[in-house]
Amino acid sequence: MHLKSYLAILAFISVSSGLFLGNAAMAEEAVEKTLYERLGGYAGVSAVTDEFADRLFADPKINQFFIGFGDDTRASFKQKNKNLVCNVTGGPCKVISRPANVVHGGLGITAADFDVVAGHLKDVLVEFEVPEAEQDELFAIILSLRPAIVDRPDEKKLSKDKPAKR
Ligand code: HEM
Repeated sequence: MHLKSYLAILAFISVSSGLFLGNAAMAEEAVEKTLYERLGGYAGVSAVTDEFADRLFADPKINQFFIGFGDDTRASFKQKNKNLVCNVTGGPCKVISRPANVVHGGLGITAADFDVVAGHLKDVLVEFEVPEAEQDELFAIILSLRPAIVDRPDEKKLSKDKPAKR
């Protein structure tokens, strides 16, 4: 083969393989990891949920809600929360809990109670060194459940001029 055409072929191969590798790297960056993956997958979600639940059971400000929970009920509560968090963050788990409004309805959970629980979640995420962006994403999801969980009349008093929707 003529040296010139040999060099041209070599140049073509190296440029096109470079482009290919470049595209592959770009494609990898473009595939955004799910929040579930960024939280450390099941191990991460599981560890955060265990610690979060144990703090709820131990906090005298809100643990009146969990009176009568034995070890098995606590374990089941943790598992349901793990599946829920796993599912809503893009993980492969099935939701095995009842809908939030059904399960919390009638418990009389106030806005202040909700804030205590949210505070524990925040503390645990900080302690597990979950980056702020991931914390914010998780909180946006959890806060979307707030109207289904806080059902006390004092919450509605805040907007007594507006007719209640539920
Ligand atoms: C922050 C958002 C919250 C989430 C994501 C959440 C999630 C859950 C889940 C998945 C369950 C299990 C449901 C089932 O058994 O099918 C549950 C049960 C329960 N939650 Fe929550 N919860 C939240 C806030 C709260 C708050 C603020 C309180 C009270 C301070 C609370 C008290 C309870 C209690 C007492 C149960 C057990 C109810 C029962 O089995 O009858 N939760 N929650």
